[in-house]
Amino acid sequence: MKRTLIREIFTTKPIDQEVVVKGWIRSVRNSKKFSFVVLNDGSDQDSLQIVVDATLPNYQDVASLLMGSAIGVKGKIVASNGKQPVEMLALEIEVIGRTTEEYPLQKKATSLEFLREQAHLRIRTNTFGAVARVRHELAQATHKFFSERGFFYLNSPILSAVDAEGAGEMFAVTSFNLNEPEKFPKTNGKVDFSKDYFGKEAFLCVTGQLEGECYAMGLGQIYTFGPTFRSENSNTTRHLSEFWMIEPEIAFAGLDEVAELGADYIKYMINHALTYCSKELEFLLSREESVLKLDHIETLKHVRDSKFQRVTYRDAMAILEKCGKKFEYPVGFGHELQTEHERFLAEEHFKAPVIVTDYPKQFKAFYMKLNPDNETVRAMDILVPGIGEIIGGSQREDKLELLQRRMDELNMQQDPLWWYLDLRRFGSVPHAGFGLGFERAIMYITGMTNIRDVIPFPRTPKNCDF
Ligand code: 4AD
Ligand code: MG
Repeated sequence: MKRTLIREIFTTKPIDQEVVVKGWIRSVRNSKKFSFVVLNDGSDQDSLQIVVDATLPNYQDVASLLMGSAIGVKGKIVASNGKQPVEMLALEIEVIGRTTEEYPLQKKATSLEFLREQAHLRIRTNTFGAVARVRHELAQATHKFFSERGFFYLNSPILSAVDAEGAGEMFAVTSFNLNEPEKFPKTNGKVDFSKDYFGKEAFLCVTGQLEGECYAMGLGQIYTFGPTFRSENSNTTRHLSEFWMIEPEIAFAGLDEVAELGADYIKYMINHALTYCSKELEFLLSREESVLKLDHIETLKHVRDSKFQRVTYRDAMAILEKCGKKFEYPVGFGHELQTEHERFLAEEHFKAPVIVTDYPKQFKAFYMKLNPDNETVRAMDILVPGIGEIIGGSQREDKLELLQRRMDELNMQQDPLWWYLDLRRFGSVPHAGFGLGFERAIMYITGMTNIRDVIPFPRTPKNCDF
């Protein structure tokens, strides 16, 4: 008989029918005449309760199985007055994979910190199953949202020769043997990368934006959705060394279009999660350790149905100066908007996501379009409660001369970016885009507070296990 997913059993409720399920045991409770086995197969937030009659030939064996064992069960689905609408009466049970007393996921020791050290097994817990299913649905929602609006999915490269954000936070990629630095080819005392694999220095990408711009200048509108890498030494609950980013880019558009697109995209994801992951969200928000509670679902509905506020960086700083709150970092025009400021704006002042625009040019990357004030750029960040920045974007400088002037100011070499400058030489048009940190979006929607818990295998400073 073919295996049926537990999710399907809960949705179709095939009462009185015989089906086969396979999964991992969450618990076994024995009474005199029966055992109750709780089985989860990953397809659904809820587990299936299986009633095992003591008359079953291998009853003793089944009754002694430990949590984490894998079994297959042929049984009859019956109505239940338990938490689930249906349960199963076992007819035959096959023990597929036993476990031992050493199985690390025992009921008591499952703090999120502990589970980070068991990243290969933590997917078998309710919490990580829920997060993984939400993550899957938000990825589906992403492709749906952009595709419905006529954006093409671009697979931007992962290996790159340029520091597109100019922040110097790049992981080098080389075929030189790092164990034999004395053998590196050198010219004038410096490593000669022309002898390296690519004939030049290469890195893992920090963004797919620049290649995204190339494709937007022909396809009209594109989005990327891929991994990006940053060697910033930020050991925070919101930074990863490897994270996934979605970067749309639109030709013939300015900052207003992408600000609206960003807000619509966040709302679309919220709606998708509320529609397809309600069990998961309810579970995650009702955990004791969850900072956000079930009323977060109402908050999300409200955000989905309301317009995002907009404020310029200048006005945001004025709000911070006047609010009377003591911050660790200074506020006022010319200071960086730090996470504590971002969170104050979103959580306490606006009490909702907010779009901040027109930042001073010194805080932003070289490619952003200069405003007529010569001081600020057409940049926007979308900040959300609990996290701060979730989206960073801008209108791009489309005038060759202005872009070159900015690169000179920043002492950037133009040669490696000759192709990027070509976009401004041949049929240049106003264009704009943004990047959304996928993990930050998952955190915002699920209420998870550490970014290490919303990506399957987190990479952070000093941690590249699994
Ligand atoms: O603001 P960022 O650096 O912008 C860019 O990379 C642009 N190229 C985007 C564009 O205009 N196409 O990063 C964009 C978003 C941030 O808002 C944040 O959500 C996320 O990426 N992000 C990180 N997420 C996890 N860990 C990190 N270390 C992150 N750095 C940025
Ligand atoms: Mg940013």
